[in-house]
Amino acid sequence: METVTVNASVPYPVHISSGLLERAGELIAGVTHSRTCAVITDTTVEKLYAAPVCRSLQDAGFRVCLHAFPAGEQSKNLQTYGGMLEFLAENKLTRSDFAVTLGGGVVGDMGGFAAATYQRGIDFIQIPTTFLAASDSSVGGKTAIDLAAGKNLAGAFHQPKMVICDTDAFRTLPEDIFADGVAETVKHGLIADKDFYQFLMTGDIRAGIDEVVRRNVEIKATVVGEDEKEHGRRKLLNFGHTLGHAIEKCSGYTISHGRAVSSGMVLASRAAEKLGFSPAGTLDAVLAACRRFGLPETCPYTASELYAAATGDKKRDGGSIDVVVLEETGKAKTVRLDLDGLREFTEAAL
Ligand SMILES: NC(=O)c1ccc[n+]([C@@H]2O[C@H](COP(=O)([O-])OP(=O)(O)OC[C@H]3O[C@@H](n4cnc5c(N)ncnc54)[C@H](O)[C@@H]3O)[C@@H](O)[C@H]2O)c1
Ligand SMILES: [Zn+2]
Repeated sequence: METVTVNASVPYPVHISSGLLERAGELIAGVTHSRTCAVITDTTVEKLYAAPVCRSLQDAGFRVCLHAFPAGEQSKNLQTYGGMLEFLAENKLTRSDFAVTLGGGVVGDMGGFAAATYQRGIDFIQIPTTFLAASDSSVGGKTAIDLAAGKNLAGAFHQPKMVICDTDAFRTLPEDIFADGVAETVKHGLIADKDFYQFLMTGDIRAGIDEVVRRNVEIKATVVGEDEKEHGRRKLLNFGHTLGHAIEKCSGYTISHGRAVSSGMVLASRAAEKLGFSPAGTLDAVLAACRRFGLPETCPYTASELYAAATGDKKRDGGSIDVVVLEETGKAKTVRLDLDGLREFTEAAL
């Protein structure tokens, strides 16, 4: 088992290995005194993995209640979130009990937000079952739901007590959902580690999956350890996300997060090269990765549609917005744009 420690305000471990779902109860028993937990999942993951996780928790002596909501980004809303809070209350969870989020990024983000707010905050454990959730969303403590006005517009910083990543779970992932995780993995290489990017471009991700998840988590953990609440350096993790979130929103959340981020990285890199923020060659590095992994390079929306969606994005500070661009392959920086600058950036992106 690989273990990476995230040095957030309260440090916590991320365990990565095959065969961990059956060991969840034993691992969790080591970090809590509570005997009651709520397992939060979606209907797809429930069928696949709720039984072994609940059994393992029960074998370790926990009282377990299970809540599942319809799978997919379209469930990431106030109504599903409200249903979770009511479920926790109906099952009489107290402030010393905890939640377990079993699933992809939607389960982790929304279940984490329920844990952050139920009775002003209870502990939670992340058990990511998608490559994306294991490599990105389960680490770092950002929890959220979408609002009609945009993606992740309500949320909280709430770090998990532990992350348990069983890489066997990826065997049941459809290829396109696995590819969503590849997009965030490529992002990590592009913004922080040229050697990792080069490994991805030549190596076999599935064959070295534990190692790839570990490197993703290390990169994210380093950034989060330096800037837990995203005042500065953590913004670099948003490479491809300003326009990526706009694409998701324009699609009514039918384009997945990973695919939208892939297009967002290409669009941002094209604009950055045209406007002189990035050197020549950075766009080609992003495009080469998209082509290798069958990830999208473009999007079906106009610059004005993207601009309108992006100005609803919360990562905006008064009249300006920080966009992330590549300084070189393996290194990123932010550029602060006013709204006219963002319009110009969006037009140059297409
Ligand atoms: N908090 C963060 O820092 C952060 C970072 C990146 C992304 N995100 C968020 O994560 C979300 C995307 O996460 P996602 O891509 O995991 O989406 P998801 O949670 O919707 O999962 C994708 C689909 O895969 C199914 N699934 C999950 N595990 C499976 C398995 N092992 N086998 C078969 N099917 C499985 C799910 O039921 C779902 O239908 C977005 O909402 C995004 O905003 C958050
Ligand atoms: Zn993302």
